[in-house]
Amino acid sequence: MQGSFYTTESFMSKINPFKQEEPVSNHSANPSFDAVLASRLSRRNILRGSVGTALTAAFGTIGLTACSGGDDEKAQPASAETLLGFTAVAKSIADAFTVPAGYTATPFIAVGDPLFAGISAYANDGAQGDFDKRCGEWHDGMEYFGLNASGARDDKGSDRGLLGINHEWVSQEFLHANGATLVSDVRTVAAEVDKEMDAMGVSVVEVKKTSGVMGYVQGSSLNRRITTQTPIALSGPVKFHPLLKTKYSTNGTMTRGTVNNCGTGKTPWGTMLTGEENWAGFFARNAGDNANRSAKENYGLKRYGRDETGIAKPGAYRWETVQSGEDKYVRWNISVLGASATDDYRNEINGQGWVTEIDPYNPTSTVKKRTTMGRMAHEGAAFSLPVAGKPLAVYMGDDSSGEYIYKFVSDATWSDADATAANRMAIGDKYLDQGTLYAAKFNADGSGEWVELSLDNPAVRYYTHSSGFSFADEGEVLIYARIAADAAGATKMDRPEWSATNPGNGEIYLTLTNNSSRTVDATDASNPRSYTDNDGLKKKGNVHGHIVRIKDANGEPSATSFNWDVYLFGSEADSDGTTVNLSGLTDDQDFSSPDGIVFAKSTGICWIQTDDGNYTDMTNCMMLAGLPGRVGDGGAVTIDYGSKQVTTQMGAKPTETTLKRFLVGPVGQEITGMAETPDGKVMFVNVQHPEGNWPANAGYGTGGASGRPRSATVMITKNDGGRIGT
Ligand code: FEO
Ligand code: CA
Ligand code: CA
Ligand code: CA
Repeated sequence: MQGSFYTTESFMSKINPFKQEEPVSNHSANPSFDAVLASRLSRRNILRGSVGTALTAAFGTIGLTACSGGDDEKAQPASAETLLGFTAVAKSIADAFTVPAGYTATPFIAVGDPLFAGISAYANDGAQGDFDKRCGEWHDGMEYFGLNASGARDDKGSDRGLLGINHEWVSQEFLHANGATLVSDVRTVAAEVDKEMDAMGVSVVEVKKTSGVMGYVQGSSLNRRITTQTPIALSGPVKFHPLLKTKYSTNGTMTRGTVNNCGTGKTPWGTMLTGEENWAGFFARNAGDNANRSAKENYGLKRYGRDETGIAKPGAYRWETVQSGEDKYVRWNISVLGASATDDYRNEINGQGWVTEIDPYNPTSTVKKRTTMGRMAHEGAAFSLPVAGKPLAVYMGDDSSGEYIYKFVSDATWSDADATAANRMAIGDKYLDQGTLYAAKFNADGSGEWVELSLDNPAVRYYTHSSGFSFADEGEVLIYARIAADAAGATKMDRPEWSATNPGNGEIYLTLTNNSSRTVDATDASNPRSYTDNDGLKKKGNVHGHIVRIKDANGEPSATSFNWDVYLFGSEADSDGTTVNLSGLTDDQDFSSPDGIVFAKSTGICWIQTDDGNYTDMTNCMMLAGLPGRVGDGGAVTIDYGSKQVTTQMGAKPTETTLKRFLVGPVGQEITGMAETPDGKVMFVNVQHPEGNWPANAGYGTGGASGRPRSATVMITKNDGGRIGT
């Protein structure tokens, strides 16, 4: 594949049809976000009346002073620096990783790099195995965990720490010598499948400064690989549930592996949360399997994108086709094959789709799936700012067209002592195993409601789908959280991706990446744009996506109501300013398909990352730095299509000092995941699935200018030693 060019979208479609299709499996009658917004006209005054925090949008040229974060690292006033003081990076289709003048970007740890002692350097020729001891593929969401000089947890540790890195998919073309071996649709080389199964999951790797320069530590006792094979405990209400019983775990307490890891979260007690996103496509169903299951089961599978349509449905990489009969391959076929659920893997799919917690500081600790947060295509898990005596909230998106935004609220109230407790997974049990799950319902007046997903909500308790589906117990509400949200009347959104918490005011940002099927007729207030791209790829619909933000009532994590607006609309700079480029993005700011979003705790900068196939004629995927204001700081905007007027509500337009492109990545990749050292001086960013010759062409690893591409973490530093983004 080297030397050939695909857009990100087409490249991923080629690898895996499940990646970019994001198939709509929400056929409920719930209103879409756009429909709700259509009826919303002048809510500007409502918002202005209800949001009165003192945090201003005027911190573009001064250090951000954050409110209490309950976090170890609060935003620090910085007297002699200018946030976003760098010169914006131009759009680019070069096969290079470009940062502003005065910054240095260094490939840091790439797929295949050895994590454990005795593992050879990566040759990048497709011949090596041992991927349970090497850095995984397709780097995605990422978190940093500080260490002190002696290697113990230190949340302020900027010279030594751990990176937790998600690995979403694999590129078979580059992982194997000559791609995947497939004979009559059967994976005939088991070692290739083993490599793929091991290359996904999560890597935990120690990083450490030596002579002032950060590097990763091969052979660190803290390094760990969690793969699609690692035993993982089911925790919370779904533990022991009949729908989790399998041949592997006959009492429904365990599963194996975490699959398709995308966004992350960092808990206030210092552990990592990893979101399991497009897991459904990894599981195969035989033709005719519907006949062996109840109508209820079949509807559940359909709602999660795994319906059986009369033809065999293979797994994404056909892992189930290895003919050895070994359990590690058989488990990927979820067809009813045995006498009961404990004789086969009909329920194996229910072991994926959770938010999974990992203690990075303890490499032998049990990994746990926190089932309270529901089963869906999880992206990020953003915490409310912890306040002693109040519960914690976790905000999450479900990435498929027309899916929902969710919030989990813990039963336990926050105790500051838990922030540094040594028994971290037990602290996780305390906050994440009991609580209430909600889904977001966006009201037409600019307010919103969190609708409860439990049998305490009559809409859920008495729900019956036309298939006959109804909820038998609370476990089913979580296993089929999407259906519970259908029942509760949540609002369909345009592919909710990552979530992030503004450390300055606790508001929650969620990216809505794009929607190719939006027509003018279907536009409304929150999805007001439908057009044919004026040049280049000529895509249609809401081509470039947008970013919505939520403020819970009175800033209370347990609030059941909120206000919201749209922070930014993605656009090309030369698109019409009255119909498309509503946020007035300039050439220094324009972007398409926001996906990753992370606030830096050090500076308060909002880092926006793109996973785009719609503007890739002009630029590779990128990361921008923003200094957003707050919910309600903008106003109403009306688009006139002639036949139709659509009024939307958006935040204050960015200025040249509040939004700038910070980096552009190499050919074919997406930029994803951001972690920083607590002092804000070292930033880590991931390049996922590049398809040119990077990072070999940047001098990293083997191959030089014609080397195979590799997903990799990049380390960014400022040449004057300052904080990133200044
Ligand atoms: Fe893994 Fe939806 O981005
Ligand atoms: Ca274009
Ligand atoms: Ca992504
Ligand atoms: Ca995406």
